[in-house]
Amino acid sequence: MDRVLVCSAWPYANGPIHVGHVTGSLLPADIFVRFNRLIGNDAIMVSGSDMHGAPITVSADKEKVSPEKVARRYHDLNSKAIEMLGISFDLFTHTHTKNHESVVSEVFLELQEKGHLKRMTTSQYYCGECDRFLPDRYVDGTCPHCESANARGDQCDVCGMDLDAKDLKDAHCQLCGCVPDLRDTEHIFLKLPDFTDSLKAYVESCRHWRPHVRSFTLNVLEEGLTDRPITRDISWGVPVPVDSYDTKRIYVWFEAVIGYLSATKEWAAASSDSTSWERFWKDSSCRSYYFLGKDNIVFHTIIWPAILTGIGGLNLPYDVVANQFMNLGGQKFSKSMGVSINIPDLLTKFQPDVIRYYLVANMPEFKDSEFSWDDFAQRTNSELVATYGNFVHRAMSFTYKNFHTIPSRGPLDDRDKAAMKRISDAGEAVARSLSKCEFREALRSLMDLAQFGNQYFDSVAPWTLVRSDKARCGTVLHVSLEMCKALAVFGCPFLPFSSERIWTDLGMEGSVEAAGWKGFEVPLKEGASLKKPVPLYAKVDMSAAGGFARYSMLNLRVGKILSVEPHPNADKLYVMKVDVGRPITIVSGLKDYYTAEELSGKTLIILTNLEPAKLRGVKSEGMLLAAEDAERLALLTPEKDLAPGTQISSGLEAADKQISYKEFQKLDMRVGVLAELSPPKIDIGGKAVGCEVAGGVAGEKYAALVLDDSALVMHGPDGVKIVFDRDIPAGARIR
Ligand code: MF3
Ligand code: ZN
Repeated sequence: MDRVLVCSAWPYANGPIHVGHVTGSLLPADIFVRFNRLIGNDAIMVSGSDMHGAPITVSADKEKVSPEKVARRYHDLNSKAIEMLGISFDLFTHTHTKNHESVVSEVFLELQEKGHLKRMTTSQYYCGECDRFLPDRYVDGTCPHCESANARGDQCDVCGMDLDAKDLKDAHCQLCGCVPDLRDTEHIFLKLPDFTDSLKAYVESCRHWRPHVRSFTLNVLEEGLTDRPITRDISWGVPVPVDSYDTKRIYVWFEAVIGYLSATKEWAAASSDSTSWERFWKDSSCRSYYFLGKDNIVFHTIIWPAILTGIGGLNLPYDVVANQFMNLGGQKFSKSMGVSINIPDLLTKFQPDVIRYYLVANMPEFKDSEFSWDDFAQRTNSELVATYGNFVHRAMSFTYKNFHTIPSRGPLDDRDKAAMKRISDAGEAVARSLSKCEFREALRSLMDLAQFGNQYFDSVAPWTLVRSDKARCGTVLHVSLEMCKALAVFGCPFLPFSSERIWTDLGMEGSVEAAGWKGFEVPLKEGASLKKPVPLYAKVDMSAAGGFARYSMLNLRVGKILSVEPHPNADKLYVMKVDVGRPITIVSGLKDYYTAEELSGKTLIILTNLEPAKLRGVKSEGMLLAAEDAERLALLTPEKDLAPGTQISSGLEAADKQISYKEFQKLDMRVGVLAELSPPKIDIGGKAVGCEVAGGVAGEKYAALVLDDSALVMHGPDGVKIVFDRDIPAGARIR
């Protein structure tokens, strides 16, 4: 038995986890730990939400709530999504715990004690107006490399360069717009150069790392390490355990990586043996695997190993399995850039195994890959549904129809023997690839077995045998069901929900997980009765998938009208201030329908990423959604009061990229009456089409996003309905 610690990078709790997190770190880690548990290794997987750092405070400032509130909200949301997706953490915690704080303090003090820390005075921007130091992320200015005017002090999103705030031209404070000045401030530094030689020897010896990870790290070492500040002038984060540092906090990256250790300790503390963490960190035969995206490499191959070397006695990473990026429309998935498909929303539309399948099949292991809805529908339908799901279903349903039980197995002919051999070969191939962390290849071997199953089934033609030789028919079906069982076992790391279903449907005892990798050799129970099989998967509706893509360019938010004034130069227009999480101005032609009093204070649905346009000299930065026919107009509003700025989902997390009015007009949104509930159908004006709806009521009206021959129903978080403030007939256009 081997011992394995599986670590998955800690997602920032500043938004819902997205496809990038799943394919980059969560899913490969899960597949790997599941495989290790199946082969009987002593394996655990830990991680949690990264609660500190600028990404959290920036989101909190935007929403005008505390960082703690933002972080807890997304930690809860993401924990749930992670569980629903079948990511089988032994512990998914977060970094804002007492335990984490005390482990971080211990590590810090140990490094200090051993002389690996030093104090130095540096200069940092200080905003006199806000009366605080500004982290680089909080300074705006002109990029010294590409001259773009919107660079942030840490990075320029236009040219992608990492920046130092001090190099920005005309720097100003992001919070108040004032010009900050540079002030001296003392910080504590990790003396990274201390570790150069030992890190070099360590990385040199790790020949099993992916080549891009190893060469990237060796390059960084070659260029030379410098002292790294590990404290910051901020108030949100882990306190610094030394005197007169109470206005400062520990740098997020320094403490987040320590999370792997603190989480293992937290896991042990909750178990029957609080010292059990030691076998994963102190027993040198334990191998630790870290799964992350390529932007996190240096923290896991330099900083974390340096910290571990500094304190001594704990295992260094055995493998750092970094993935490349999965892109969307050519851009990296990134919350801050608004390029994202969020998992909580995706889970409301697709089975977890369907999502998992595509994200492994397209995992960016050695080069970037591209997420596309067409490809998603295509691969799901032609591979998972048509090959894997289809084989299992035809074998099980044919057996059910003609035998009702597991048929007994008579003598095997050469073809059957070859099929049985094929099963064990496939198991070896999948296992070989999984132990090398080659997930796409492993999945391919699994799918080859499913495809072979279909060929075997066709070649033995049980539909002919059932009439000519029922005993022989039973034998070939038995062999086919053996193949289904093997697919359940070998597929378990990838498709855990489907695997348990197949296992149970075959009448096997306990769970696949408990049976383990050798479960494929546990004989089927001849004579055990079968239930009527239900297909494992539904086909992905291409137009629904395309629809998500189409509507995902909208950024719809809840907005509260703060004030309404007549337009100075136009009779029919109002100029309104609306709070959409931030105040914006909207010019709108509602004067014929609503008085200023009726509008002010109303909570509405606002399109917030429309290109700003001047309307009779006043700049309008968004649009209220309204449904309109020849004589009436009604405004869209959430049924329950939602906070201004709350995102209204159209199936996906919406983009921050601006869209033109023309692009917006190409979309077809209408008032629909929910006509039937199972399956749901919505009448969009004389025509009823299939739709997806979260807890609707038949006969009620909803905003429908119309696709070719189906519709999506607009809703807020947790299925909050979007309704109309006045009566308006089905079919009316929403603009
Ligand atoms: N929160 C970081 C990110 O999302 C990853 C942290 S990984 C850790 O990029 F190991 F440092 F925690
Ligand atoms: Zn730039």
